[in-house]
Parts: sequence; C-alpha cells; structure tokens
Amino acid sequence: MKGRNQTLLSEFLLLGLPLQSKYEILFYGLFLTMYLTTILGNLLIIILIQLDSHLHTPMYSFLSNLSFSDLCFSSVTMPKLLKNMQSQVPSIPYAGCLTQMYFFLFFGDLESFLLVVMAYDRYVAICFPLHYTRIMSPKLCVCLVMLSWVLTMFHALLHTLLMARLSFCGDNVIPHFFCDMSALLKLACSDTSINEVVIFIMGGIILVIPFLLIIVSYARIVSSILKAPSAQGIRKAFSTCGSHLSVVSLFYGTVIGLYLCPSANNSTVKETVMALMYTVVTPMLNPFIYSLRNRDMKEALGRIICKKMFFCP
Ligand SMILES: *[C@@H]1O[C@H](CO)[C@@H](O)[C@H](O)[C@H]1NC(C)=O
Repeated sequence: MKGRNQTLLSEFLLLGLPLQSKYEILFYGLFLTMYLTTILGNLLIIILIQLDSHLHTPMYSFLSNLSFSDLCFSSVTMPKLLKNMQSQVPSIPYAGCLTQMYFFLFFGDLESFLLVVMAYDRYVAICFPLHYTRIMSPKLCVCLVMLSWVLTMFHALLHTLLMARLSFCGDNVIPHFFCDMSALLKLACSDTSINEVVIFIMGGIILVIPFLLIIVSYARIVSSILKAPSAQGIRKAFSTCGSHLSVVSLFYGTVIGLYLCPSANNSTVKETVMALMYTVVTPMLNPFIYSLRNRDMKEALGRIICKKMFFCP
C-alpha cells in the first residue's frame, strides 16, 4: 500500500501523434480511411468464410480468426486516437488506460499466436499433404485456437496486474497515441524493476518463440519443396509463404525492435512510427495479403455476389 497517501493520478493525457497542426486534418482523414479499410476488409473476410462452404477448412477458419483479431486490435487504439485528434484535452481515465493496455496486449498476442498456428497449418499441408486432414482435425483446430486465447489472456492479465500495482503521482502526460506499456512505466513513481524484468522475459517467450516457430515452419516448407521441385509446387509455395513472411516480418520486426531492443536514442517520432506500423498498417494489410489475393477467396466472393444479386444457380 505504499504510495497511497500521495495524490494519485486519476487520468492521463495522451499526447497523440507528433504532428504539426496544419497536417492534423490530413492525417485524420488518412487514419480514418485506414481504420475503415481495416474494419471493412476484415469483416468481408469473416463473412465470406462463414457464408461459403468451400472455405470451411482449417486454413480459412484460422484466417477468419486472424481477421477477427485484427479487427479488434485496431479497434483498441484507433477510435481513441481519432477522437483525441479532435479534442482539446486528449485525456483518458486511469481505468480506461489499463483497460486499453489489457486489450492491446490481448489482441496483439493473439495475433502472434495465430500467425504461428497458420504457419504450422501450412507446414502440415505442404510437407504432409496426404495426412493433412487427419492431423488437422477439427478438434485440433479448436484446441489450437483455444490455447492461443488462454495463453494470451494470462499474459495480458499478468502485465496489467503488474501495472496496476504501480502508483502514478507526478507527470501524467503519455507521449504516445495509446496507453503503451513502456510509456506508462516511464511515468510511474514506484519501483518498476519487476515490470521490466517480466516484460523482458515474457516478451522473449511470447514473441521470440512464436517467431522462431514460424521461421522453422517456413524453412521446412521451402526445404521440402526444394527436395522435389515442381513448377506448380514452387509457385504455390512462394505465393502463399512469400506473402505470409512479409506480414510476419513487418509485425515481429517492429514489435521486437520496440519492446526487446529499446534504446535510449530512439526518438519519440521513430517509436511512434514503428508503433503505427503494427497497430494500424499490419491489421489493414493482413486481409489483403492473406486472403483477398487468394484465388479461392476471389471465387467465393464471386459466387456470393452472383447468388445474392443475380440469382445464379
Ligand atoms: C476460429 O477458429 C475456430 C477453430 O477452427 C472456429 O471454430 C471458429 O469459428 C473461428 N472463429 C472465427 C471468428 O472465425
């Protein structure tokens, strides 16, 4: 209970983006467009996968989960960012800040686990095509998704509870556009060493292990294709894995760079741009990279539009 007798903060100020005021409207429009694209693109994928029975396979059910997670992930930060860009006093209550942090961690981790699950799914599909349906049974799929939810719930809760222990008494200005864990730690007036150790260890487990698993999966896919090269196999593998890897490296690259290798000479602007990369850009790009370029998805879209509008057989 130490620190309780000091005046504790009841709200924080989110400084938002380091923008000159003449660019505010431009960026407001840009972010609004990006947010709407994220929502619509991901919703389209979820609806398409639900409606089309050809897409009721493990790969698409994971994709649908990823879209759901993307949709929520960007909804944790974007509406608040857009609202704060318009308001004079961009404040957020203490409880709101912790809630935002919880859901940010929750959906961020979920995304990370789902990317691993999807990489494993592709690994089984390409390296053991004959056993794919037996290995990737509906039961295993549900287990993998449930496991991701449970792990990510505990991880987010751990950090949020550790943050709730700290007292905040002095400065309440967060130089960021959402309640970022590391920005909050800098404002705390109690000892943050436990938090830092936990961030480092859990961050290592939660980010580096999934990242390595993904790399191993794709490396085995590539080596299995090179063993028996066929033009069709190579094309198929590159079209799926190339795009997967680009999303994976954008997401993990920025997150690992920000949380595991924080350096004192990182400017706020650079950190904000990196944070924008994985909070705004990856959730927006995922639907396009994973799904909408994909032939099955395009055919499903065609079938559904056709059925609904023109009563095709
Ligand atoms: C997520 O994946 C599980 C397991 O494959 C599936 O049952 C569920 O419908 C998916 N959820 C969404 C929102 O797509």
